[in-house]
Amino acid sequence: MDHKSLSRYKVSLMILILTSLVIRAQSVTQKFTPCLPFNCGNGPNISYPFWTPQKQEPYCGSPQFSITCHDKTPILKLSDDDYIVKDINYVNNSVLLAVSELFNDKNSCPTPLHNFSISGSPFDYGLDFAELHFFYNCSFNDESARINLSCASNRSHHSFALFHPEFLQKDYSVDLCQATVTTPITAVDLDFVKMNYTEILKNGFSLKWNGVDCSKCVKSGGRCGSLDDNFICICNDQVRSGKCGKFSYYPLNDS
Ligand SMILES: *[C@@H]1O[C@H](CO)[C@@H](O)[C@H](O)[C@H]1NC(C)=O
Ligand SMILES: *[C@@H]1O[C@H](CO)[C@@H](O)[C@H](O)[C@H]1NC(C)=O
Ligand SMILES: *[C@@H]1O[C@H](CO)[C@@H](O)[C@H](O)[C@H]1NC(C)=O
Ligand SMILES: *[C@@H]1O[C@H](CO)[C@@H](O)[C@H](O)[C@H]1NC(C)=O
Ligand SMILES: *[C@@H]1O[C@H](CO)[C@@H](O)[C@H](O)[C@H]1NC(C)=O
Ligand SMILES: *[C@@H]1O[C@H](CO)[C@@H](O)[C@H](O)[C@H]1NC(C)=O
Ligand SMILES: *[C@@H]1O[C@H](CO)[C@@H](O)[C@H](O)[C@H]1NC(C)=O
Repeated sequence: MDHKSLSRYKVSLMILILTSLVIRAQSVTQKFTPCLPFNCGNGPNISYPFWTPQKQEPYCGSPQFSITCHDKTPILKLSDDDYIVKDINYVNNSVLLAVSELFNDKNSCPTPLHNFSISGSPFDYGLDFAELHFFYNCSFNDESARINLSCASNRSHHSFALFHPEFLQKDYSVDLCQATVTTPITAVDLDFVKMNYTEILKNGFSLKWNGVDCSKCVKSGGRCGSLDDNFICICNDQVRSGKCGKFSYYPLNDS
């Protein structure tokens, strides 16, 4: 290849790359137009990194943050369990969740039957995280201060919950119980002693996520989204990497 055709080749290659970027960004912009915050009817306004497959393109949020509306209630799935999204705080990146089964009026004894785990999720525990420990089908009753699970107990099978398992009676052995389960709650100054376990669990627990600060994009008039795992800011008819505006960094397309 001589010098002239080499530079011509370079120029057409550049044009090709630019064109494909522009076309890709434009189709994204069209798709992203509906990335508006949504609300299931009850609960918080939901926006990036949360999104709903029912009304939006996956690009409107991050894959593990998908929320579905059941009737009017926003539901987030975590390791196959359904959680009601009670609140979302986009300033400190935290979400308040409660097990949805607790709100099922047909279930008169919605006790947690497996340990809660955040592993494999994009979430971490909030600062107000505490735990409630459930003990099921114990052959003896523990006399310490605790929450009775009368709906899961009878004369021979005792079930109860404790905030601090170290407060079990000195000679009490967990081996007396058929199952133990730990579930997250919010550490607040409520009168837990007067509350039954469903009331405590219905308060929910908060989880936080690490994420790109979306507020710069929103303040500049854009909507946040993600493309191939990269944060994008959707501005009118342009997609940018940081925020909207002429001098925002790394525009994906420029017309
Ligand atoms: C949701 O957003 C709308 C429109 O911005 C606002 O009027 C409303 O108060 C918000 N609702 C909640 C629960 O934050
Ligand atoms: C929950 O975790 C505790 C402690 O790791 C374990 O002893 C218990 O068997 C677990 N419960 C269930 C139902 O798997
Ligand atoms: C985030 O802020 C809200 C409201 O100020 C607060 O209730 C919540 O505990 C905070 N969450 C975390 C994880 O700091
Ligand atoms: C308690 O015992 C009953 C009967 O043996 C069983 O069906 C139930 O699953 C047990 N509960 C737990 C939490 O293990
Ligand atoms: C729970 O049940 C035990 C045994 O029946 C009883 O001694 C205790 O007072 C009860 N605790 C509460 C908080 O109701
Ligand atoms: C108590 O409950 C357990 C498990 O739910 C059941 O297997 C057992 O037969 C019950 N015992 C009595 C006396 O009702
Ligand atoms: C818990 O308390 C609430 C309100 O007092 C009551 O409606 C509910 O039936 C109780 N649930 C259980 C499992 O005791």
